[in-house]
Amino acid sequence: MKKPTLSKRVDAFPPYLFKDLDKKKQEEIKKGRDVISLAVGDPDLPTPKPAASFAAREVLKPANHRYPYGRGSAELRRAIAGWHKKRHGITLDPETEVAALIGSKEGLAHLPFALTDRGDIVLIPDPCYPVYKTGAVLSGAKIKRLRLREENSYLPDFDSVPKKLLDETKLLFLNYPNNPTGAVAGLNFYAGAVAAAKKHGFWLAQDAAYSEIFFGRPGPSIMQAPGAKDVAVEFYSVSKTYCMTGWRLAWIIGNSRAVGALSRLKDNMDSGQFNAIQETAAFCLKEHDKLAPPIRNTFRSRAELFTRALKKAGWRVFAPGATFFVWARPPVEQRSLDCACRLLSQASVLSAPGSGFGPSGEGYVRFSLTAPEKKLTEAAERISRITW
Ligand SMILES: Cc1ncc(COP(=O)(O)O)c(C=O)c1O
Repeated sequence: MKKPTLSKRVDAFPPYLFKDLDKKKQEEIKKGRDVISLAVGDPDLPTPKPAASFAAREVLKPANHRYPYGRGSAELRRAIAGWHKKRHGITLDPETEVAALIGSKEGLAHLPFALTDRGDIVLIPDPCYPVYKTGAVLSGAKIKRLRLREENSYLPDFDSVPKKLLDETKLLFLNYPNNPTGAVAGLNFYAGAVAAAKKHGFWLAQDAAYSEIFFGRPGPSIMQAPGAKDVAVEFYSVSKTYCMTGWRLAWIIGNSRAVGALSRLKDNMDSGQFNAIQETAAFCLKEHDKLAPPIRNTFRSRAELFTRALKKAGWRVFAPGATFFVWARPPVEQRSLDCACRLLSQASVLSAPGSGFGPSGEGYVRFSLTAPEKKLTEAAERISRITW
């Protein structure tokens, strides 16, 4: 038999970092251990009941059963523009500066296909959410990493990047509030990033998936920075804000050419998200002030609890300003994967090794606060008993 081959593109994917850890987790479970999983960024809380009930009614409407097509329903795009006006004070044209996505992962992965050509340079933060790399690699772009340092609060320092590299860059991904570190960015930082993008002629894609899981003051949108619409797009999602990761609904805002290019690409690849889900997202945005705070408050109190407990156990913890992640180094320095394995074998706690988010994540682990406080307390207690 002549075996057909797979694409070289698929071979370009890095090996699944958590494979070993997954195997070890299964072994622990087989031994009857109660593994507390703090590895994956998927909220354990259900979608708020009013949203789920609204969706149930929308599902029954025949008008919602046909292909959705296009950039998202007019109702949803108007709701998105209205929400940003209220939340960030920015004005968006729902026709040209807003488009719905089937989750922000989808949009982030497809964006390089719309904005870059083979061989173009895409700058990704290090550490970062791995999907920025996936999309760029698949589209044939070249990846360069922009190091984020703890001492700079995980904000990139554009002055330290060689000018030649910035001149050659076609697209730069940013992500605040940040996964995996929990770092946040202010308007001054965004203004500097927009100025750099305009000076050197690259696109900025800012991923704001965790925009509403903040612990202090609400963070800004990059679109509030002067001239941002000339060079920037920003991604938002219902996934974390309303605990709707399974529903797959997000949106892109900003530069109309970039939003248009991604929409054109998607018109040729998908037919949009189920209308009932789009209408539910519009409902959530209108009911935001009722739906979002209880979720945010739950994660804030979990973050306080777990951060305090880890510090007490001798860990060095980066104080998160947002997100539901805790980014930390163990009391005794070691490689991320070794640390994660020790957490699993000695404490039955599953974490994500920092090295999975890029070389600069080496030495750290990321805990997802996606378990109730009782479990988090127990996890921290078990961690405090580890002998390093
Ligand atoms: C930084 C970041 N951006 C985007 C996403 C994807 O979110 P969505 O559910 O909207 O695809 C995630 C999911 O974990 C994430 O951590």
